[in-house]
Amino acid sequence: MNTLELTRFEDCEAALKLPDLKQALYDEGAILMDRVLVTLHGEEHLQRRRAEMRVFRRDFFKRYEHEVIPQVFEEVMTARDGERDDLVDLGYRFMVYLALAFAGIDRQDNTAEEMATLVGMLRMFGVAATRGQAKDGEREAATAEVRETLDEFDRRFFTPSAERRQALIDEVRAGTLAEEALPMDVLTVLLKDDDDLELVRDMVLRETAFYFLAGAHTSVHSLSHAVDHALTWCESEGNESYQTLVDDPLRVQRFVHESFRLHPSSPVSKRRAMTDLTLPDGQEAREDDIVIINLREANRDTDVFGTDAVLFNPDREVKAGVSETGITFGIGMHACLGKNLAAGTLPVPGRPVQLETHQFGTVAWLTHALLAAGIRKDPGEAPELDQAIARETWLKYPVRFNV
Ligand code: HEM
Repeated sequence: MNTLELTRFEDCEAALKLPDLKQALYDEGAILMDRVLVTLHGEEHLQRRRAEMRVFRRDFFKRYEHEVIPQVFEEVMTARDGERDDLVDLGYRFMVYLALAFAGIDRQDNTAEEMATLVGMLRMFGVAATRGQAKDGEREAATAEVRETLDEFDRRFFTPSAERRQALIDEVRAGTLAEEALPMDVLTVLLKDDDDLELVRDMVLRETAFYFLAGAHTSVHSLSHAVDHALTWCESEGNESYQTLVDDPLRVQRFVHESFRLHPSSPVSKRRAMTDLTLPDGQEAREDDIVIINLREANRDTDVFGTDAVLFNPDREVKAGVSETGITFGIGMHACLGKNLAAGTLPVPGRPVQLETHQFGTVAWLTHALLAAGIRKDPGEAPELDQAIARETWLKYPVRFNV
């Protein structure tokens, strides 16, 4: 078995669309990722994806952006306990609450202990998904811990959330509750469709935990990168630039898209060849070979993004047909279902924008709200990148508000 790698943007984009390449990034993370959407292939994947896409409708995005995100922002900012804060830590709090909302997991008692438990669970699921990156001797211990975390997630959060939703679904079936009264989340869709999708309880549990992970983990790090770029840009552009960003949320959204391009949440996608085939760059892959699709390199391809592709440039003009975020959200059969939620949609050039109804996406909404709240780098303590993992993430990012 060989490992082949693609790095040019066009080759990576084309490879992600090839039906003979099957998901392989999570092969070692089966304890959490076995038969969740992103690891399925072919017909089974298509059916489940179609069912789950029903959650992500226009009215869902609207409610989420205009009700859920502002409420969560308020709640997390009010609960801060000191004058020193950490951006990564704040990011976890925002995203945990937001991801629970679309996964369909109810908070049970809203205590600080519960929040700490959920953040711990999220970090653990992150370890599980990328378990392939753990050293050999550490794998077994990591598996046992993940199992325990999944059991606790099941007992404390999944079971009561599923029971509440099942009771509501039963009422709809009995004609005593209107269908529109059901929660708009992934767990409700899965429970409603479990016969058609042939799901057993364990699969619904893992799928819900996967959504919690897919939605929150990625966005925590995207938020830290976006705020870092905005603050660093303000430092280089001078004092007044900060206020220009606060006054222009659409510009902040463009900043965030440029930041998404530079920092895909996973630097690579990984696929396994299901048959012998020629890859888009002409390399010959044999059945079972691993193909690394290097999203980070592809998004820095100078042929597509210009000679300054490695730099942060929010005024960058991209070629027609290429997304400002590059392939950070994937493309093809596994293209991210949460892209609109996380990134919103950029205005169409030349068309007027209604700010009240425009969809900014979670990361831009929060980046702008943090700037409006006066976020600054802590002058006394420098941020630190996590050197221990291949993913480029901030380990800590001390900040202050309104200093
Ligand atoms: C910063 C934000 C995010 C980034 C950068 C991101 C990135 C990605 C990427 C690269 C993939 C494709 C993986 C592959 O091809 O192997 C993907 C798939 C997926 N993402 Fe996201 N994602 C983000 C946020 C979200 C959110 C908020 C949700 C949940 C609502 C979500 C749900 C999913 C799902 C369900 C899939 C699997 C789709 C499928 O296999 O059919 N993501 N994401």
